[in-house]
Amino acid sequence: MKVLVVGSGGREHAIVASVARSPRVNKIYCAPGNAGIGELAECVPIPAMDIAEMVAFAKEKEIDLTIVGMDDPLVAGMVDAFEAQDLRVFGPRKNAAIIEGSKAFSKDLMKKYNIPTASYETFMSAEEAKKYLETSEYPIVLKADGLALGKGVLICNTKEEAIDGVKSIMEDKKFGSAGNKLVIEEFMTGREVSVLCFCDGKTIKTMTSAQDHKRAGDGDTGLNTGGMGTFSPSPFYTEEIDAFCREHIYQPTIDAMAAEGRPFVGVLFCGLMITPKGVKVLEYNARFGDPEAQVVLPRMKNDIIDVVEACIDGRLDEIDLQFEDNAAVCVVLASDGYPVKYDKGFLIEGLDKFKDNEGYYAFHAGTKQTAAGVVTNGGRVLGITAKGENLHKARENAYAATEWISFDNKYMRNDIGKAIDEV
Ligand code: AMP
Ligand code: GLY
Repeated sequence: MKVLVVGSGGREHAIVASVARSPRVNKIYCAPGNAGIGELAECVPIPAMDIAEMVAFAKEKEIDLTIVGMDDPLVAGMVDAFEAQDLRVFGPRKNAAIIEGSKAFSKDLMKKYNIPTASYETFMSAEEAKKYLETSEYPIVLKADGLALGKGVLICNTKEEAIDGVKSIMEDKKFGSAGNKLVIEEFMTGREVSVLCFCDGKTIKTMTSAQDHKRAGDGDTGLNTGGMGTFSPSPFYTEEIDAFCREHIYQPTIDAMAAEGRPFVGVLFCGLMITPKGVKVLEYNARFGDPEAQVVLPRMKNDIIDVVEACIDGRLDEIDLQFEDNAAVCVVLASDGYPVKYDKGFLIEGLDKFKDNEGYYAFHAGTKQTAAGVVTNGGRVLGITAKGENLHKARENAYAATEWISFDNKYMRNDIGKAIDEV
């Protein structure tokens, strides 16, 4: 079968690697892809947001299955466009991807269906938002309603910071039209965990848990990034917490979306906070996490094509989803200066070593193939993942493997997975 994967990051590299393991697949395309993906798939230079071109390509090549990895094309309706042409595609339709595309929508959904989340108010004008901030408690959280590359959330410690935040999101439009609406939310404390779930519109099955590290610097300091590393499973996500989430979060979310006439088919990413007052939903995403996919998918025992097809065909209940009884850690190698300002175009050395070492992966995020070799081409360059029999071993292996790679302005956090020492 011929499979097309849409996207170009480390997450899509992990998806393509899973697809490549399926004996059912004999040809993989990825649009637009990257240098690492190019070793497993034929990369096609179609921008991920060019829905019309993507559909035309899938028709021309008679693609049997398309997997959309990224959020923007999902929110823009790529799945609907494929379905309109009778093309088989995995991901939520536009009316379901809104669960990620609009924070106001997802908050209202949770409120309506009693799904635990932080209390909040939604504002359409900066003036009203500022008035509300006069009597709020601090810290407080501001969220631009729409997609903002994971950067539309501001945690404000004082009223002054919050008023500045409202100004930058709603008046200066720092995140463009994503800031036309604003959600102001109660600040929660606790440990975060990401649980990715396969969904077929009525059945939801959770994958193994993971924890991301969003801040740029060690000890969770510095700016928010797309994610600097992950570990899986999360030892803080206990069986008791899992049971609570099944009853109060996962199935209720899928049922709520179905009841709203927006059946969710695809991967639902539940960003959870384990607070002293119980588990609450921080956010939903409508796709695999990045870099969560890089620690979750290498541990999945099932053929990803079987699972994806079961989702599309509404028979996920027949799938026995299984993960290896081990652990994985992903350390992101970034360009020094990310997420603000950084140089790129530096030669990357050491990639070959990953080919001969099972259980080790160099997932490409921002790389480019040139005549001289593979060079850096983004803020997050590579996700170095290693498995191990337990989290400690996986972390040791992943950090050892980061040493195999060199490029000029290589930067990484040195404390990915450090939290496991607290267990
Ligand atoms: P989001 O894009 O909604 O996941 O937010 C990005 C990050 O901001 C989350 O991973 C949390 O670390 C933090 N965050 C979001 N909402 C809250 C909240 N209500 N309280 C505390 N931290 C939050
Ligand atoms: N790692 C967070 C995300 O994919 O949104």
